[in-house]
Amino acid sequence: MTYDFDTEINREGTNSVKWEFIAKDGELHYGDHAAAKYGADRILPMWVADMDFRCPPAVIEALEQRVQHGIFGYSKPTDSYYETLLRWIKRRYGWDVEREWVSLAPGVVPALNMLVQSLMEPGDKALIQRPVYYPFTNSVLNNGGELVTNSLVHENGRYTMDFDDLAAKAADPTVKMAILCSPHNPVSRVWTKDELTRFGEICLENDVIVISDEIHCDLIVAGQTFTSFAAISDEFAQNSIICTAPSKTFNLAGLKTSNIIIRNEEWRAKFRRQIERNGLHMPNAFGIVAMEAAYNHGEAWLEEAMAYIQANFAYLVEFMAEHLPQVKVIPLEGTYLAWCDFSYLGLSSAARKALMMEEAKVYLDEGEMFGPEGEGFERFNLACPRSILVEALERIKMAVG
Ligand SMILES: Cc1ncc(COP(=O)(O)O)c(C=O)c1O
Repeated sequence: MTYDFDTEINREGTNSVKWEFIAKDGELHYGDHAAAKYGADRILPMWVADMDFRCPPAVIEALEQRVQHGIFGYSKPTDSYYETLLRWIKRRYGWDVEREWVSLAPGVVPALNMLVQSLMEPGDKALIQRPVYYPFTNSVLNNGGELVTNSLVHENGRYTMDFDDLAAKAADPTVKMAILCSPHNPVSRVWTKDELTRFGEICLENDVIVISDEIHCDLIVAGQTFTSFAAISDEFAQNSIICTAPSKTFNLAGLKTSNIIIRNEEWRAKFRRQIERNGLHMPNAFGIVAMEAAYNHGEAWLEEAMAYIQANFAYLVEFMAEHLPQVKVIPLEGTYLAWCDFSYLGLSSAARKALMMEEAKVYLDEGEMFGPEGEGFERFNLACPRSILVEALERIKMAVG
């Protein structure tokens, strides 16, 4: 490997949410629980979805150069930003995006909130497929919308969509929007073109706008193929909004830069108006520099990072099979988040949390956070040096045993 993913990098003192905070009662509280000084007693955080790897060297160099300039005034992306983004999408996903369709937002989650604010009326409903990334729920409920759940079907260790239920729910005329997670966090599915086509047709027939959150689109396991929803057909492109970002791919989440692609002119105008209303039309000066460097020079790094993550997953699977065979590990197709079924323990979410945090001293996301469909599961962030994963699994083995 050219890049080093093995070395543990101390993230103390970097304001890291993952390493230096604990979520409690809806707030993040600072603590030094994961500090190196606690040695074997430190808490190993495998919850928040960022990587414990340094981002591609080309990104660090580009940011260093920008920092050396010393003036960090208001910034806007120029031609090369858009050219870089469009080239990446075309080359990797075969979709011809026009520059006008792209709006920048300070994150996919802020964009989801603003999309609900701008495209839904109070009382309209948005459909989500739980278990799913929990901010989907908040973006709807915090902005006057109502939720409809089209739960995923979990059978024989694999998740699929329930199309009959989807068709029935989409037929409700108050359902205006469906938020698709593609690839799906937390169940790690990379939806096939056929699945996306069925999903898209049902939404199209019922005038339901598809918001496709494709933030994990570059994190695809070997042998899987990611299909961008809008690349399937012109009609789908007209009926969808694609949310993408370099943040998960290259570990740039703190730079708060995402790209929201809206082909439909009316929706684009409404979304941009909402960005303006919130005063969010100036992007982060570092985010635009980092994105360009990452998409232009980061691909070799990404391939190695993904290979490392897959090897971490293989380790997890073997470890569970050998030491905790009752834990069912869902196959990893995309993302760096492993979804593991601990329901045989028969513990409530709170009891499992206590076991993991207090006994194992491993900080995971409990499945219930992603909806009741996630009951009994734990989500592991595998974007960490192998040594951390090994230690976390040994501790879980001891605690559970
Ligand atoms: C599906 C999904 N969407 C969005 C985000 C976060 O997006 P952002 O940091 O751009 O707001 C995450 C982070 O884990 C995610 O998994």
